[in-house]
Amino acid sequence: MLIKTIKITAFFTLTTCILNASSFNAQAEKDRLALIKYTEAKFKDPAKAQANHFPYSTVEELEESYAKNVKYKDFAIGTYSYAKKAKEQYDEIKEMPPYEDAIEEGEAIYRKKFKNGKSFATCFSNPAIAGDYPFFDEKRSEVITISSAINDCLKVNGEKIWKMKKGKIAKLEAYFSFASMENGKKVDIKINSQEAADAYERGKKEYYSQRGYLKLSCATCHVQGAGQRVRAEKMSPLLGQTTHFPVFRLKWDNLGTLERRMAGCNKDQGENEHKANSAWMKELLYFMAYMSNGMDIDGPDVRK
Ligand code: HEC
Repeated sequence: MLIKTIKITAFFTLTTCILNASSFNAQAEKDRLALIKYTEAKFKDPAKAQANHFPYSTVEELEESYAKNVKYKDFAIGTYSYAKKAKEQYDEIKEMPPYEDAIEEGEAIYRKKFKNGKSFATCFSNPAIAGDYPFFDEKRSEVITISSAINDCLKVNGEKIWKMKKGKIAKLEAYFSFASMENGKKVDIKINSQEAADAYERGKKEYYSQRGYLKLSCATCHVQGAGQRVRAEKMSPLLGQTTHFPVFRLKWDNLGTLERRMAGCNKDQGENEHKANSAWMKELLYFMAYMSNGMDIDGPDVRK
């Protein structure tokens, strides 16, 4: 009898654990599916959606310069998924991508020995890891981004840490991203605990909060505003916003990480920029990456 009771209790404990484990991402999954639905509907036929979604454009402009029926995986190329002219220029640049040397240099950095004889290859035995970051480290109770993981590796090996926006870190990330793309990796962000779900929620709240003297949120421009124009640029949708970093920006004339790109958007919002290694940044990136779950890694890439 006693054994039977223990067995039954064990059974219930086990199933409860399994149920909990699979439900921590329930809200995030809802959010992700809703975002796909919203984004696909908006870009199905922009001219028809003019009144609802593109009040600042004319029907003629939408007919002429916007693609139709853009599917969710296509949004990995951001603005170029729907803006026809910009896509032509993009395709031209991609014929001789300006980041090719950076990938090679990144691979050399990956293999180069630290003073102690170890290397990045010791920390990251498989370089095809771009889709696994950010993740929530349950022991440390914090989000780890690819950039912070690189610095952690330098630290444990007694090396000086790097700035997180450009230079060596961007090259190493370019190699990780390229290796992931070559191996057909997808964005694969996990939420396995209540604490991780809380970090996701905080990131989401930041994305949707109005900030700065302009009272804009990231979502004003990249959800509701996606597809509209600000100055000379059309805005990319949140969906697919993290799949292709680092990027070579023509404006920078070199390669930069996702954290570097974000600094510009903080300024657009009329805010001071947030530190690349802050909990604010890492949790925001955790949320953004989750929204791209299941999409192909396709970095590094080019942007204007
Ligand atoms: C005033 C509008 C505006 C606001 C607010 C804004 N952005 Fe942007 N963002 C842009 C524009 C314009 C671009 C360049 C065109 C594009 O690729 O979307 C851009 C580009 C980006 C990109 C690069 C997209 C790509 O395909 O490579 C990311 C990522 C991004 N923004 C994230 C954010 C986040 C996160 C916030 C909030 C902290 C934010 N943005 C706030 C206007 C804005």
